[in-house]
Amino acid sequence: MIYLLFCLCLFLTYCAEIDVNTFSNYIEVSQEHVHIEWLLDLDQQYINATSQQIFRVNSNKLEKIDLDIYQLDIIVVYLPSSGNILKHNVINQGDQSLLQGDILQIKLDRVYTRGEYIKLNIRYNLDSKGARALGFLRKEQTYSKQVPYLFSQCEDNNCRSMIPLQDTPSVKIYFTASVLVKDARINVFMTGNKLQAMKFKLLNNYDNLQALTLYQFELDIKIPAYLIGIIAGEVVEKSTGNQTYVIAEPHFIDDYAQELSDLPIYMNEMQKYIGPYIWGDYKIVILPASFPFGGMEHPLLTFASPTIIVGDKSGVSTAIHEIAHSWVGNTVTGRNWANFWINEGFCVFLERKILSRLNGLDSVKLDAINGNSSAYTSMQTFGLDNSFSSMHPNTKNRNPDEATSRVPYEKGYQLLTYLETLIKEDPFQSFLRDYIQHFKFQSIDEDQLYQFLLNWVRTNKGDDAQKIITDIQTIWKDWVYKPGLSPIQIDVQTPLFTNANNLAKAWIDGQGQVPEQADDFLQYKPNQKSVFLQYLIDNSELVQKTVLATMDQKYVLTFYKDQKIAYKWYRLVLLVEYKEALEGVHDFVSKVGVSSYLKVLYDLLGYHYNEEAYAWFDENKTFYHPVVVQAIEKILQKYPKKIILE
Ligand SMILES: *[C@@H]1O[C@H](CO)[C@@H](O)[C@H](O)[C@H]1NC(C)=O
Ligand SMILES: *[C@@H]1O[C@H](CO)[C@@H](O)[C@H](O)[C@H]1NC(C)=O
Ligand SMILES: *[C@@H]1O[C@H](CO)[C@@H](O)[C@H](O)[C@H]1NC(C)=O
Ligand SMILES: *[C@@H]1O[C@H](CO)[C@@H](O)[C@H](O)[C@H]1NC(C)=O
Ligand SMILES: [Zn+2]
Repeated sequence: MIYLLFCLCLFLTYCAEIDVNTFSNYIEVSQEHVHIEWLLDLDQQYINATSQQIFRVNSNKLEKIDLDIYQLDIIVVYLPSSGNILKHNVINQGDQSLLQGDILQIKLDRVYTRGEYIKLNIRYNLDSKGARALGFLRKEQTYSKQVPYLFSQCEDNNCRSMIPLQDTPSVKIYFTASVLVKDARINVFMTGNKLQAMKFKLLNNYDNLQALTLYQFELDIKIPAYLIGIIAGEVVEKSTGNQTYVIAEPHFIDDYAQELSDLPIYMNEMQKYIGPYIWGDYKIVILPASFPFGGMEHPLLTFASPTIIVGDKSGVSTAIHEIAHSWVGNTVTGRNWANFWINEGFCVFLERKILSRLNGLDSVKLDAINGNSSAYTSMQTFGLDNSFSSMHPNTKNRNPDEATSRVPYEKGYQLLTYLETLIKEDPFQSFLRDYIQHFKFQSIDEDQLYQFLLNWVRTNKGDDAQKIITDIQTIWKDWVYKPGLSPIQIDVQTPLFTNANNLAKAWIDGQGQVPEQADDFLQYKPNQKSVFLQYLIDNSELVQKTVLATMDQKYVLTFYKDQKIAYKWYRLVLLVEYKEALEGVHDFVSKVGVSSYLKVLYDLLGYHYNEEAYAWFDENKTFYHPVVVQAIEKILQKYPKKIILE
């Protein structure tokens, strides 16, 4: 196996998979502390920066430090102790289409040896064109339209476009920041505890600069680079009780805080299951609509898409998912992007464990079915035998962002659910708690997890141990490495699923007549509505346009408020070419910035409604996040713009 080869190549004290998506020499020298000092200009969309970094030398003869960068304008590298300038080079890494960036190679002033520490400063600038991680919103893109807005998204490996560093989840650092802003209306939050926010007027007026605000942040637990996050804009925070807070634009804050008023309950349930929460205040930012993801789990500063705010607390499973990351992902971290499932599979497992306590097991089975179905869709897109359709994608010479899909989430969840049936529910909970304790603050790979699991079973399962170990050994390699569906089906049987499928089938068979049990739909929770629509999507070749017309009359799905449901309805609309609902699709792509939704809808639009695809994309290009624009452009290339002959 590949990982065995790596073991032989590396002279480490333990066997570990290396990260193939960093150019840094992180094994010879490891980053301990990263501090940034940023002067933000959100109007001009640039940042003037200095980063101070401390490294520990792990090799016997270290002459250079290689860091990851992506389109940063490096001005100077120097030793703060002496002021001596160090030579640096930017080494171009060829294939720019992979968007993995380049090497910043820093030549040290002498040879360093194991155990020494090096502190250096890097001055650099960055702007909105280069910074893949940053979404600079013009003030018109915010609700109040008064002040511009900035947010980051570093995962997978985009942190290198805002800070030169060892951009790998194998390395954990202490992070501190000083952020200066020129506009007093702008509030800043970063991953970390806010030490102070100090506004001061300047004695002089420098190029129209009359005042500055300084924000300082510090995190006393080490994190990998991909967890660094920032938002800056006209935002406020509101407590939802018990050390939980919501952050948003002032116009939305009360509604959002109301929708998320159960945060302390989720937090409490999670702690009852998995153990104490160690990070401090839990804050969740609801971002403007351009935020391309469902959520992002920065410690002390979760980000979430406004699509989770439905009005009836039904969309908040994202919040529960992000809370769960405080343990799995943020405390115990996958060592590289091939081990992403160590973050996400465990996280989905915890999320659904809490949801099953709040909503019941049948509801969670529906979530598992919906999740499995999107994982399967991704597998079909990648190809069922593609490594990206496995839980352990090979990301060598690829951008790990390309491998991002539901696959590691759902196959990971299914594996853990299977292990829970082998080990039994209560002991499995103990196993998870022991696992967190054992690996906390580390970055690990599946082999370390595997060894720990087998040892745990051997020690804790008495007479059953040998049988369980054999069962685990039988499936493990296939489950982790083999592309395609999981080798063993977990039990997801529930009447809720059967009922939704039967109703969908009745609609198809009705050919435009309203089926007898049609009103059932009105009682469904969103995850059951989703199953219903998925059945129609999967069988869209059997669905007549008149079925959709009658259905829309009955259920009013076009312009539906819950974006998760609206998205599935619009997929169906496009597949069936039900033109009457096209304005709804237009409305959706004009106000929802979520990457996974937009990619699927533009793919369908490009094929079925080519002209609209190009027109709507052009209209809203400045609204979408830069990474989403790139992704849609790539999708539309498959469907060249049709020339309309007059
Ligand atoms: C700040 O960054 C901008 C954009 O890169 C650059 O034009 C400007 O000269 C920088 N200012 C300083 C003081 O480095
Ligand atoms: C608040 O936290 C305390 C301690 O963790 C807990 O006992 C209490 O039940 C929590 N309150 C709510 C509303 O969750
Ligand atoms: C996942 O989806 C595949 C393809 O539709 C199906 O064969 C399989 O039974 C599903 N598994 C679960 C657990 O839902
Ligand atoms: C998207 O484009 C439409 C049509 O030009 C426009 O009305 C809408 O405001 C745009 N969306 C955003 C959020 O800018
Ligand atoms: Zn997650």
